[in-house]
Amino acid sequence: MPSNTISFVHSERVIEIRNPNPNETLLNFVRTKLKKTGTKEGCAEGGCGACTIVLGELKDNNIIYTAINSCITFLPTLNGKQLILVEDLISKDNSLHPVQEAMIKCHGSQCGFCTPGFIMSLFSMFKNYSKLKEDVIKDSIAGNLCRCTGYKPIIKAAKSLRTKNKIDHFVKNKKQIIALLKKIGNESIAIYKKDKKYFAPRYVAELKKILKKNSKSKLLSGGTDLSLVVTKDRKDIESIVYMNSIKELNYIKKNSKYIEVGATTSLSNFEIYIKKYYPDFNKILKRYGSVQIRNVATIAGNIATASPIGDNLPLLLALDSQIVLQDIKKSKILPINDFFINYRKTKLKEGQFIHSIRIPILVKNIFKAYKISKRFDDDISSVCAAFNLIIEKNKIKEIKIAYGGMAAVPKRAVYCERVLLNSSITKTVIDKAKNALEKDFSPISDMRASGNYRKIVAKNLLEKCFLEINEKKLIGIHS
Ligand SMILES: Cc1cc2nc3c(=O)[nH]c(=O)nc-3n(C[C@H](O)[C@H](O)[C@H](O)COP(=O)(O)OP(=O)(O)OC[C@H]3O[C@@H](n4cnc5c(N)ncnc54)[C@H](O)[C@@H]3O)c2cc1C
Ligand code: FES
Ligand code: FES
Repeated sequence: MPSNTISFVHSERVIEIRNPNPNETLLNFVRTKLKKTGTKEGCAEGGCGACTIVLGELKDNNIIYTAINSCITFLPTLNGKQLILVEDLISKDNSLHPVQEAMIKCHGSQCGFCTPGFIMSLFSMFKNYSKLKEDVIKDSIAGNLCRCTGYKPIIKAAKSLRTKNKIDHFVKNKKQIIALLKKIGNESIAIYKKDKKYFAPRYVAELKKILKKNSKSKLLSGGTDLSLVVTKDRKDIESIVYMNSIKELNYIKKNSKYIEVGATTSLSNFEIYIKKYYPDFNKILKRYGSVQIRNVATIAGNIATASPIGDNLPLLLALDSQIVLQDIKKSKILPINDFFINYRKTKLKEGQFIHSIRIPILVKNIFKAYKISKRFDDDISSVCAAFNLIIEKNKIKEIKIAYGGMAAVPKRAVYCERVLLNSSITKTVIDKAKNALEKDFSPISDMRASGNYRKIVAKNLLEKCFLEINEKKLIGIHS
């Protein structure tokens, strides 16, 4: 029987909440119910990092620590986890955590607003990495905004942690926390609260039964898109089915033909795995939101939003990936190219869910992808492009090109592909292909970029791709 009570570990004790409000954010709960006001609200949309907290989760008799944005996390998803707030970093004898000490010593804190979030991001980094290289440090705080550009002292503080003793009070208390996490387990949850419902099944079979009776429910994975309905649009979500407690769907496996990514796999885990096969996929994911976002967000969620600027989507389109859809009775495999119908509309039907994504392993192919956005980190694309091709004796034998940000849906550039297929790579051919993009796309102007800018950028990215292939080197300020 599913429980209507969520249980989590905080401050070395188990806290139980009966019938929590499914639409309440974790940030609101922490500040107004736990009365811990160290965690701040800045943007309420996952973009500033002021609300960063860390979750501890059991894995193979160990605790995995992940930084997340509490402003876009619904309270019931805390079930079965350890909640770590900035107030919890200080030891019982009142001594500061090494991260806090480092921030003070290096003058990393100028205001009380962003500092708790930075501390929590650095704490998560401190727990997860043995070597604190420059790129790890920058990645770890890319989702935390300091409005007065105090980054240098914060980076200095992070670097000073390289020599710090790793034995903090979390290491000392680990056995006790593991025992508590094991004790509370991770039961299936079913909450009926006034006009709202929330389900967190643990198995696919359970999910199907829930969807049979509640086919209009909203599926919630990382919530980095869906939660904004509540925090920004100020609307309620009546019925939620939380996917991320289904461990059965949290996997990455491969055979000789494709890599299969289960729907509840986080982007953080996927970005590490995909690097070996498609380094450019990894490069794009490194610039996808922030660590806090990627720790919970999924490819399945990104696909289901069908956002024209969803960064995974042009890459998956160019790689000719497939989506495994499942409903109560059967599953179906669909090429991703057939999935998007119109602006934020897909072929997904009520009661159906994305089970997994299959990405072909193409050993002979060249795969390149580029993201253009106003800021390098933690920003949405103006244009995203992906190129997948085989060249033999200077002739293009196979080509698939896809763009995001150029139409109402992420889309293949079929006219451009036709010009390039079976052609030699010459300036004339590339120019023709660039012109063909005009036939493929009529991008709109919005706050991110004008339509004209998008057209020019799309053409330039095509040229850049072939320049890089010809010259066998990367071109750009970050290469
Ligand atoms: C600060 C911030 C930065 C961001 N940066 C980027 C970025 O750089 N690039 C980018 O592309 N996106 C970005 N996003 C958007 C968002 O993170 C992505 O779209 C993300 O991949 C959504 O995944 P999720 O698991 O969080 O989905 P959720 O928010 O849980 O769900 C999104 C939608 O998918 C549906 N859904 C979820 N799981 C399934 C499933 N298994 N089957 C069927 N439907 C499902 C939900 O019902 C919902 O409609 C950003 C968002 C924020 C808040
Ligand atoms: S309040 Fe800005 S990320 Fe949560
Ligand atoms: S120190 Fe807080 S915003 Fe810069």
